[in-house]
Amino acid sequence: MFGSSAGSPRSAIPPAPSILHLLDAMAREGFEELVALNDRRSGLRAFIGIHDTTRGPAFGGIRRWAYRSEREALLDCLRLARAMTYKCTLADLNAGGAKVVLLERPDVDWRAAYGHLGDAVERMGGRFYTGPDVGTGEDELGWLTARTRYATDPGPEGPGELAASTAEGVFRGIEAALVHLDDDVDWGRRRVVIQGLGAVGAGLARRLVEHGATVVGADLDGDRAASLSRELGIEVMEPARAADQECDVYSPCALGGSIHDLTLTRLRCRVIAGGANNVLAHGLHGDRLHEREILYAPDFVINSGALIRGSIFHLEGRREPVEAIGRRVGESLAAVLRRAREQDASPARVAVEEAEERLAEWRGA
Ligand code: NAI
Repeated sequence: MFGSSAGSPRSAIPPAPSILHLLDAMAREGFEELVALNDRRSGLRAFIGIHDTTRGPAFGGIRRWAYRSEREALLDCLRLARAMTYKCTLADLNAGGAKVVLLERPDVDWRAAYGHLGDAVERMGGRFYTGPDVGTGEDELGWLTARTRYATDPGPEGPGELAASTAEGVFRGIEAALVHLDDDVDWGRRRVVIQGLGAVGAGLARRLVEHGATVVGADLDGDRAASLSRELGIEVMEPARAADQECDVYSPCALGGSIHDLTLTRLRCRVIAGGANNVLAHGLHGDRLHEREILYAPDFVINSGALIRGSIFHLEGRREPVEAIGRRVGESLAAVLRRAREQDASPARVAVEEAEERLAEWRGA
């Protein structure tokens, strides 16, 4: 539910020059709350950023990462939390955006650290729900749910199917993008290159193969790529060459920032649509893709499947079917693409504008 994204035209938060400007940065970017945690016992150092709770509780996963500095961690937290609000606005959820970042460092007792974080989340009393993201898997969620009611249970009591929901959303989003371009999806003649064959990328590959598309996959983990290739009969290639391939769709499903100045000139696809967060290294790359007539499906529109599944589970107590989530994401992306075409603007820019407009409406501005 909790993956998040940024990298859109206005998503780059101006760097906070010093800690003294933190409140200014929060005010400028519309943040409600920022919590810094320093637990002497476990060694935990973390930020919890709550961007918006106007429509309902804030949702955001826990990213554990070896940030180069505290400042980098803080900026990531702010960027990702705001992007989660964007996801909520475009998916029309009664929820807002948040994020936790944990600073990966030596000698942290992670079990105790997640416990401490769980206590902090519990103290927020349901204003904030958290769950998985990079570096936070089933074990960590287990440590967390022992201490708070407001975290995703990885077991049968939880929402389940989070990555599957994201993969289905990406699949239906790709379909919407192809229909937008060609009025027809015609999977049998489509070639899709997937960068990253983890939970989302592999799920997407399965759906594409089921529908008769040609899939080429790349993963830094060669064993993982080989095993999926055996299962699905897909071609695999060197990750470094994935962006150069001639294809209908290039689908980034690994880490963020894969579309940057260098890859942008090498792309030979018609559509970029994947599950990864922060696909664009900089918001302006969305405009450059538009100039190159490459259709970009904004990450925070197309990868919201898990957020939809998780937030509905927590707020309404039901499990939204994965297929319904996929349709919802596909429709949402189709609307953004139509609007971009009408305005002859990049979908990335249009999606951010639309998210900001909806947020302003929510806030009664
Ligand atoms: P995962 O950790 O299961 O898979 C990521 C895969 O990408 C791994 O197999 C890794 O080896 C591979 N990888 C990393 N860098 C690579 C590179 N440069 N080239 C090729 N392969 C590379 O992660 P998951 O859950 O599949 O998520 C993928 C992306 O989607 C992440 O950016 C995540 O934040 C985002 N996301 C995931 C959601 C979910 O529901 N799991 C929700 C929303 C976003």
